[in-house]
Amino acid sequence: MNSGRNSRMVGFGSFAPDQAVDNLELCNRVDTSDEWIQTRTGIKSRRIASDHQPTSELALRAAQRAIESSGLKLGEIDLVIVATITPDMAFPSTACILQHKLGLGKVACFDIEAACSGFLYALDVADAMISSGRYRNALVVGAEKMSSIMDWQDRSTCVLFGDGAGAAVLSKDGEGPELLGFFCGADGSNPSLLCQPGGGSLNPATVDTVEERKHFLKMNGREIFKSAVRVMESASRELLGRHGLNVEDVSHVIPHQANVRIVESLSQRLEIPLMKFFCNLEKFGNTSAASIPLAFDEGLRKGHFKAGEIGLLVAFGAGLTWSSTLVRF
Ligand SMILES: CC(C)(COP(=O)(O)OP(=O)(O)OC[C@H]1O[C@@H](n2cnc3c(N)ncnc32)[C@H](O)[C@@H]1OP(=O)(O)O)[C@@H](O)C(=O)NCCC(=O)NCCS
Repeated sequence: MNSGRNSRMVGFGSFAPDQAVDNLELCNRVDTSDEWIQTRTGIKSRRIASDHQPTSELALRAAQRAIESSGLKLGEIDLVIVATITPDMAFPSTACILQHKLGLGKVACFDIEAACSGFLYALDVADAMISSGRYRNALVVGAEKMSSIMDWQDRSTCVLFGDGAGAAVLSKDGEGPELLGFFCGADGSNPSLLCQPGGGSLNPATVDTVEERKHFLKMNGREIFKSAVRVMESASRELLGRHGLNVEDVSHVIPHQANVRIVESLSQRLEIPLMKFFCNLEKFGNTSAASIPLAFDEGLRKGHFKAGEIGLLVAFGAGLTWSSTLVRF
């Protein structure tokens, strides 16, 4: 193994279910309008998985694409990490289910739950495990079926989210975007800002919790908005500072795809022009842990990132959590 090198993303892939639901269709479900959704969020459409597509199926399709593009054999993958807040089941992990579906060996598998920051948390963990020398090639997936925890009677949340998956294969051998550094943080002081209150050990599922709609996502949108801009700015500056880089050194920002107004505010606060931000949230909405790899994969496939350029990936999510990752293309 090439222990002196940084890990690289030697393979990448993403997948979104076929069914696109545009804003006008949502007007049939809740009291909203295409104009409200677009002006407040930038979202035009989102993909919704079928009843037969749990999160592991979305993860499977993205992972197959990532492994194929890495050129590695299935037997060479020795670690699987899935970032998700919509696992197939509370346990076992979706990573274990994915291992079997992919036909991998009996390798280490676990999930990471850091909400929308989950993919970047998982990259950090996978890189550390590879750098320890105990693992060689890690499959890292961000996958979500957000539609499974949406309250389709709550217009303030159901218009925002969508389903999808993205995956990377990390290795110190091979070519691909180089992982230069990571930063993760969290503030657990106010979990109710964004949560799914029912179904855990605090509120085990009962007829009452179901009637009270506690198994759906709940959010204080205004507070989350303010926190998002603040923590994404600080996570970006912290990581750049640790690597002796300035905002001018960044060629591309791939932010968590939650809301175009959050991205605009972040652009202003970081003083990085909006044209350097890669966004595809108008097509997919907020896909939580899948959002950054879905955008990253699209940018890669479109040849948007040039060799040698520096990319900044930055996310925030329920917890609150935040995370940033620096890559060199
Ligand atoms: C959710 C969000 C789009 C709401 O936008 P906002 O400008 O803050 O809107 P408000 O919550 O102040 O609501 C304004 C009004 O719009 C209404 N409204 C909410 N959702 C609506 C919808 N889908 N359609 C029409 N009206 C809606 C509200 O009821 C409110 O009406 P009122 O003033 O009569 O009470 C915004 O707060 C946001 O994006 N927050 C961050 C969410 C996020 O990114 N979460 C994911 C974290 S990973």
